[in-house]
Amino acid sequence: QWTTSSIVDDTVAAIREQIGDRRAICALSGGVDSAVAAALVQRAIGDQLTCVFVDHGLLRSGERAQVERDFVAATGVRLVTIDAVDRFLGALAGVTDPEEKRKIIGREFIRVFEQAARDLQTEAGEAGEQIDFLVQGTLYPDVVESGGGSGAANIKSHHNVGGLPDDLQFELVEPLRALFKDEVRRVGLELGLPETIVHRQPFPGPGLGIRIIGEVTADRLETLRAADAIAREELTAAGLDRDIWQCPVVLLADVRSVGVQGDGRTYGHPVVLRPVSSEDAMTADWTRLPYDVLERISTRITNEVAEVNRVTLDVTSKPPGTIEWE
Ligand code: XMP
Repeated sequence: QWTTSSIVDDTVAAIREQIGDRRAICALSGGVDSAVAAALVQRAIGDQLTCVFVDHGLLRSGERAQVERDFVAATGVRLVTIDAVDRFLGALAGVTDPEEKRKIIGREFIRVFEQAARDLQTEAGEAGEQIDFLVQGTLYPDVVESGGGSGAANIKSHHNVGGLPDDLQFELVEPLRALFKDEVRRVGLELGLPETIVHRQPFPGPGLGIRIIGEVTADRLETLRAADAIAREELTAAGLDRDIWQCPVVLLADVRSVGVQGDGRTYGHPVVLRPVSSEDAMTADWTRLPYDVLERISTRITNEVAEVNRVTLDVTSKPPGTIEWE
């Protein structure tokens, strides 16, 4: 019987065997896979691991704190946060095309991580402790999907750092290669990670950048972040987190509609709620959320987020719609 604690013990032993007394780095995305992979490696080699968290400014409310405070408290991991908000917003200025946004965010992410890795490598090198390993949260389904080949060539999404340049050669450490998502979550709990990280719903690497329809600006991000936080709070309060796959909130930043509030006419932006039910994100159905929950979300968003005067519900399945709007 392969219990969760024996998975942890075996994996930790295998990581120790692979890394020995050398050093490793890991990019944290805020998601469950990189968090559990990092926590396992931390347990195996302690401070020989350094984690890097890139704040690209496209995160949801509270996500940076979740990594910097909660994840560090739970694991004792050594963490470097790179504040790259201005850099990402600069690179995204004037861009409205969804694929172009993805490319820019992916490219900047690699560059920022690469620089962080170089800086750490320089520091470590001066102390005679070169970093040899890169930790990745590759799961079993990813391994199978990519034909069982190993490593960097198979990475699909940008926040799994795949395209590192040749002069930054790392050997990969992939402690989750034999595990499915539900096992990863159990391992995470076994390692004492917070529920908010272990049961986090999927969130795209390009973050809120692909949930603002139109140009991404600091003001628009602030508006969307506020609306998203309210939707998440109310879904959690209603006990619905485990029933929905995810619920993107999308800001139609280039659309305005007329409304009325108090004595005055408003001319604000709509947001779209996109609650979906799914097994694997390949197909999805729109979730029949209770009307009273929708009502609370709508009332709170229009009352509390000044720029938003209309809340709409997306009732499209996938296909033909995708889960995200971009
Ligand atoms: P779609 O919109 O294609 O989304 O139905 C399917 C799932 O993938 C997530 N998603 C992404 N994740 N980088 C990511 O890491 C991306 O560019 C990206 N686009 C979509 C989406 O949130 C959903 O869970």
